[in-house]
Amino acid sequence: MDCLMTEIDASLAHLVSLAGDRAAETPVSALFLHRWSARAMTGEPIPEKVLFALFEAARYAPSAYNSQPWRFVYARKGEEAFDALLAALSDSNRPWARNASALIVVASKAAFTPPGQEAPVHIGSASFDTGAAWASLALQAALLGWTTRAMAGFNADKARAAVRAPEGLKLEVVIAVGRRGDADDLPPEKQALEKPNARRPLARTAFAGAFPEEV
Ligand SMILES: Cc1cc2nc3c(=O)[nH]c(=O)nc-3n(C[C@H](O)[C@H](O)[C@H](O)COP(=O)(O)O)c2cc1C
Repeated sequence: MDCLMTEIDASLAHLVSLAGDRAAETPVSALFLHRWSARAMTGEPIPEKVLFALFEAARYAPSAYNSQPWRFVYARKGEEAFDALLAALSDSNRPWARNASALIVVASKAAFTPPGQEAPVHIGSASFDTGAAWASLALQAALLGWTTRAMAGFNADKARAAVRAPEGLKLEVVIAVGRRGDADDLPPEKQALEKPNARRPLARTAFAGAFPEEV
């Protein structure tokens, strides 16, 4: 028992309660506190190696039946596809996202043919699983010193046309990826928001045994 406790203590030793401006109620790996979604980005070129490290992290996300419903299209600043995607963003996202190094469309495919079967089945958790892939991508980016910000604020028809999304793919978000830039370069109404935000307390998030009446 003592030996087991020592092992557990050792594995918890790297956990932290504070990182940057964020505090954890229970210590966690600093990565979870360090990742936050900046808007101010430098627009500097992003190496393909970095982009593919992000996709690789996403690739190993868990999914129902290992169906891997996530699909990505990326476009780097300066490319035609980047401008087309930028034009599809909402008026509140376009002004800051133009300084991203890359835009990534995250799509999910709910139709999946399980191994050994001929007909595709509908995977009800395709969006959920794709969200797990996005989280892995964002954490890998943070580990490599890049920031990411997901955007649901885009015109779906324009984005679909920009990346020639086939039927059966649901566009979930567009992600802006870049190196953190200067908050002063953001539109005035966004400048004060350029910092890590807080979270609801754990006591209102995780419950023992059953949900309370008010969640
Ligand atoms: C599905 C999704 C859609 C989002 N859409 C937008 C968006 O359109 N514009 C934006 O500025 N931020 C958007 N965000 C970023 C969230 O506002 C941000 O993740 C949240 O406030 C938590 O902050 P953090 O990521 O810095 O921890 C989106 C995030 C997610 C996951």
